[in-house]
Amino acid sequence: MTTRIAAVRGRRVWDSRALPTIEVEVSLASGALGRAIAPAGASTGSGEAVDLRDGGADFGGRDVRRAVAGIEEVISPALAGMDAADQAAVDETLIELDGTADKSRLGGNALIATSMAAAHAAAAGRGVPLWRHLAGDGEPGGLPLPEIQVLGGGAHAGRRIDIQDFMVIAIGAADYPTALDWTARVYHAAGGLLSEAGLLQGVADEGGFWPAFQSNREALDTLMRAIEAAGLRPGEEVGISLDIAASDFGRAGRYRLGREGKELDSDGLIDMLLGWCADYPVVSIEDPLAEDDIAAMAAFTGAVDAHVQVVADDLVVTDARRIEEAARQGACNAALIKPNQIGTLSEARAASEAARAMDWGRIVSARSGESEDTTIVHIAVGWASPQLKVGSIARSERNAKWNEGLRLCSALPDGAALPPADRFPWGRTASVC
Ligand code: PGA
Ligand code: ZN
Repeated sequence: MTTRIAAVRGRRVWDSRALPTIEVEVSLASGALGRAIAPAGASTGSGEAVDLRDGGADFGGRDVRRAVAGIEEVISPALAGMDAADQAAVDETLIELDGTADKSRLGGNALIATSMAAAHAAAAGRGVPLWRHLAGDGEPGGLPLPEIQVLGGGAHAGRRIDIQDFMVIAIGAADYPTALDWTARVYHAAGGLLSEAGLLQGVADEGGFWPAFQSNREALDTLMRAIEAAGLRPGEEVGISLDIAASDFGRAGRYRLGREGKELDSDGLIDMLLGWCADYPVVSIEDPLAEDDIAAMAAFTGAVDAHVQVVADDLVVTDARRIEEAARQGACNAALIKPNQIGTLSEARAASEAARAMDWGRIVSARSGESEDTTIVHIAVGWASPQLKVGSIARSERNAKWNEGLRLCSALPDGAALPPADRFPWGRTASVC
């Protein structure tokens, strides 16, 4: 076996929010090496695998020395001698070693970094790129369509505006590099507009601008003007995508919009969002209601136009069973796939396959706390995910991912091609709202 694991090392490294995180290094007997770094969320779903932190005073209790010790003392001896190419066996071992339903003993962060590092090591041992290794017998197509943040809010920007992500999707772009070009133009235009208006406060956690808006509609208006100022046609070339992250400002049917001084019930929030869909070219909305408001999520999914993608993040937390359950209830029509929400690559893949089987859209996604790690780009390509979300097109922990996609353009069978428009809800109807 050329992919036999010789050693597993855990290391404490730094993420994009100046917080410690975990890097795992898996070395094979052949000398091949794989490394991966765990990302971290800030607006997390309650059902996510536990991100194991030390507690105490250091770094707000967010240090990872315990999780690193678990890798060295528990994970490393158990994985030594196993086949890194047998991802299912590696991941089953990790799940058994942890032994808890929420991965709180060893930590979902330790598990996902190990799981991804094993995949990297196996690919290196086989002498193939990671996307090819992850694709297995499947035939990967081209690159995923980017979903990119322009304005940041919510938990990532001191709650200066309620909505977390104001993003764009270059729905009319012919290929991946063009999608990035168009988005960068919109990003610069938005920055110019905000600075002229004296509203610019810096950048939020994922690299999008952090503006001093008085209302959420002001953000939507700015995004529209930025698309136009970039010389692009809103709704035809570039669509608007929102992550409401409603679990962060509401639960059990009560939502508090701090910026607008409003309290809404579920129907009120649904009406507000449907109003935005009517007035702006919104093509995708994530977490429109809180994770515990599933009936309202189903009502929203039924009420919104068929060409709008309704994305489940906190509701399904990359868990195949939760995706199947949400689909049965008619809540949402696409799943965000964040491997660290569930803790191993095999379980994240099962979630992706469950979404595909339910005829849902799939968006592989980074977290707000990131690093130079580009594994998710290879995951998106290897698992033929039609979309990828990694934050903005500024700051290197984000552009490490977009740039890795550019590198893959020359390696993939379909080159820089994006999935055909009819793979997406907005491409299946003649008009966009
Ligand atoms: P998080 O947010 O990574 O901070 O959880 C991203 C998202 O909600 O999609
Ligand atoms: Zn989200």
